Amino acid sequence: MRLLLKTTAIALALTAAAGSVKAAGHGGVEVLHWWTSGGEAAALNVLKDDLEGQGIGWTDMPVAGGGGEQAMTVLRARVTAGNAPTAVQGLGFDIIDWAKQGALANLNDVAAAEGWDAVVPAALQHFAKVDGVWVSAPVNVHSTNWVWANKSVLDANGISVPETWEDFAAAMETLAAAGVTPIAHGGQAWQEATVFDAVAMSTLGPDGYKAAFIDLDPEALGSDAMKEAFDRMAVIRANVDENFSGRDWNLATAMVINGEAGFQMMGDWAKGEFLNAGQVPGEDFLCFRFPGTQSQVTFNADQFMMFDQGGSVSTEQAALASAILSPSFQSAFNVVKGSVPARTDVSDADFDACGKQGIADLAAAASSGNLFGSMAHGHANEAAVKNAMYDVITAHFNGEFDSETAVEELVTAVEIAQ
Ligand code: BGC
Repeated sequence: MRLLLKTTAIALALTAAAGSVKAAGHGGVEVLHWWTSGGEAAALNVLKDDLEGQGIGWTDMPVAGGGGEQAMTVLRARVTAGNAPTAVQGLGFDIIDWAKQGALANLNDVAAAEGWDAVVPAALQHFAKVDGVWVSAPVNVHSTNWVWANKSVLDANGISVPETWEDFAAAMETLAAAGVTPIAHGGQAWQEATVFDAVAMSTLGPDGYKAAFIDLDPEALGSDAMKEAFDRMAVIRANVDENFSGRDWNLATAMVINGEAGFQMMGDWAKGEFLNAGQVPGEDFLCFRFPGTQSQVTFNADQFMMFDQGGSVSTEQAALASAILSPSFQSAFNVVKGSVPARTDVSDADFDACGKQGIADLAAAASSGNLFGSMAHGHANEAAVKNAMYDVITAHFNGEFDSETAVEELVTAVEIAQ
């Protein structure tokens, strides 16, 4: 049933796209993205307005589905049909993959004119500049190891921000006893993997996370610490409500917003939903790093890949790239989106408390060797490996494997996927 719905959504998106190409035409851009929740749409409008202010038309090509899996399916179909959109939201290894296939336009002129080399962090350039060529424009830096909480629910139950896993487990127990759903969760593979990013970081530590998810070391993948990560996932699974299956991430965020649930483990795009609902950090909701990962940042950066339209980069593509990298846009957009700027020279003055913490955490993690690409959001490994991990994590979450079997399956699945 879920597959059918997905297929229908993709078919509809493709039909819409066929009609939209003409509309994009000359003088405009057609932008494929997966920013369809309330908070995401509000952030996207900042970009649309910026471009429209420059007289550049915008043809919107939204493909719903958190994490972008469905959007990537639509993209592949469009490219195969010889009809690539002008600009496409992309993550990490997917960008490198499209660049290696020769599908992306060369942005070196605009990058040189605007000095991107000096202001975009090295961790992002790794994915934006492939073999010396800038192929995409970094919009932001998100990170996945956050927890979001309803402040009055925590206060009413005498719970303070958990510092350790044990504190967190105790808080879940307290909420369950009080009849509140401890964890708001949406049962979709990418959401389970997002939670796993933080949970595995807490049990494996930074060196173990890197060894397992980035270096794909079979020993780290098959370690006792990995088994403990799966054990913790089982505890989390026991603390979600019975309707979690298939729920979209933003609906899970809404459960925290309206006090139905205590916590959500999700990337900082969740903050966009709290803000869109008029909530204020520190007053209505709390943001904190997943217990045991306070010094680490698992990141993913949204970028817009510019697809080669048969020649050099178009004027509109260059204008879009330039608008995205402008310091004022980087502040205005990321304040709304929940992410932090993709440049190191943007002031944090307009950001709220969570945003200021995000900016400080990112800088500290980058300089102390604690910044790692998110496994769940395509910044640790290529799609085949990521999907192999998704399958095991989600099967375990849904009770198909116990923790010991999940560890064995993970080692095997990753070996096969390489
Ligand atoms: C993207 C975010 C987006 C989230 C949920 C992530 O992969 O980086 O920009 O808000 O998915 O759709």
